[in-house]
Amino acid sequence: MVKICCIGAGYVGGPTMAVIALKCPDIEVVVVDIFEPRIIAWNSDHLPIYEPGLDDVVKQCRGENLFFSKDVEKHVAEADIVFVSVNTPTKTQGLGAGKAADLTYWESAARMIADVSKSDKIVVEKSTVPVKTAEAIEKILTHNSKGINFQILSNPEFLAEGTAIQDLFKPDRVLIGGRETPEGQKAIQALKDVYAHWVPVDRIICTNLWSAELSKLAANAFLAQRISSVNAMSALCEATGADVSQVSHAIGKDTRIGPKFLNASVGFGGSCFQKDILNLVYICECNGLPEVASYWKQVVQVNEYQKTRFVNRMVSSMFNTVSGKKIAILGFAFKKDTGDTRETPAIGVCQGLLGDKAILSIYDPQVSQEQIQRDLSMHKSELDRPPHLQPASPTAIKQVSCVWDAYEAAKGAHGICILTEWDEFKTLDYQKIYDDMQKPAFVFDGRNVVDVDKLRQIGFIVYSTGKPLDAWLKDMPAVA
Ligand SMILES: NC(=O)c1ccc[n+]([C@@H]2O[C@H](COP(=O)([O-])OP(=O)(O)OC[C@H]3O[C@@H](n4cnc5c(N)ncnc54)[C@H](O)[C@@H]3O)[C@@H](O)[C@H]2O)c1
Repeated sequence: MVKICCIGAGYVGGPTMAVIALKCPDIEVVVVDIFEPRIIAWNSDHLPIYEPGLDDVVKQCRGENLFFSKDVEKHVAEADIVFVSVNTPTKTQGLGAGKAADLTYWESAARMIADVSKSDKIVVEKSTVPVKTAEAIEKILTHNSKGINFQILSNPEFLAEGTAIQDLFKPDRVLIGGRETPEGQKAIQALKDVYAHWVPVDRIICTNLWSAELSKLAANAFLAQRISSVNAMSALCEATGADVSQVSHAIGKDTRIGPKFLNASVGFGGSCFQKDILNLVYICECNGLPEVASYWKQVVQVNEYQKTRFVNRMVSSMFNTVSGKKIAILGFAFKKDTGDTRETPAIGVCQGLLGDKAILSIYDPQVSQEQIQRDLSMHKSELDRPPHLQPASPTAIKQVSCVWDAYEAAKGAHGICILTEWDEFKTLDYQKIYDDMQKPAFVFDGRNVVDVDKLRQIGFIVYSTGKPLDAWLKDMPAVA
């Protein structure tokens, strides 16, 4: 029986391995992590991450051919194929701070693999890494190998949180990069055989290592670029009276452009887009390509601008101050159907409002109060972070409460601010909400989920990103 071990039981390692186990009953899959609470949660009824369909998959194979363990070294030693799916955050200090990927976790995982291995192994890069990481990892492994043969493959993950299980069941493509040597090709074939259990072979793309590593960064950069492009267009729509949804629809019908990823919003978030673009920027700079670096930097800068613009719209609409005003924040996760808050635009927007002394009542169906408070008080080094988007002080954090109901959040509030596109926000009883709010009552829709006309009929003053402005907002001072 082929044995797979995955180092890192996070948003990628957990769901990916669960699906491999489900689709390959003849393979034993063990997911290991040094963070014990995560392993305990994976072995319980309350999985550490929320992902539609994940519970079912785990229930079907856990204890059969899928195991979660904190005994990292034992399972790595026994495996034929070792996936490495550890976190690769942006470096916060030292060379490349704020841009380059921090490979500390990766390097320590590689050293551990070399230390404990007693048999030949295929080591698979699942984490997103800078181009040429495989070469560095190869060096660590071979210099410490005691005669053991390691083959490195790059197999970046393209799943999107919130749809991870569907993405894994029916991937657009699986990408496997390896050395162009007979041993490298044999390793590619071994991994291809795993995926071929359920993925049509024409969807399994095999490349050299560097193409696979770069393709992952390129895919995220292109996706984020589309969002920044449509968000830049949303600012122009507001200035001209065009409606960004109509513009998106019109341009998306062009088959060369296509309709996906064209929704204007308060900005993109998630653990990957910003991190991967910054990484790409750093690689460009290191390779003497400053013009290409600044091209990609723009994508991140427009994302920051969009958050700032949103906060400024809110503050200027509400008589140029939100000090002492209750604002209901609906949604904190970076997108619907996940509880993940990494780089969520909600952090910047809430910090901006707290900076102007607003009182926030936050509701998100999947994010805990502890997580929200941690996020709002943290300091992240970000490229060109606007000065007002600073971490909230302990006093400001006291102005934040978390509730478990959108109606409770909105009770007595001056404004509602929608920051995640959870389906339930489309069908709230907005008349009831309006009746319980201060007047004038505002809705600031950062995800374009509400029916603007219906809400205006109720009496709300509505701002919806990129939509024709409410007469009220037109009369307010210009925003950034
Ligand atoms: N989250 C996504 O949607 C997504 C999608 C595609 C690719 N990726 C990439 O996949 C990688 C993992 O992302 P994630 O979101 O799953 O991260 P995560 O933070 O959720 O999980 C990483 C896990 O690795 C564990 N870990 C770190 N060092 C370890 C070690 N030496 N031994 C054992 N365990 C160790 C951590 O404790 C953590 O639980 C990143 O490189 C990310 O860029 C993420």
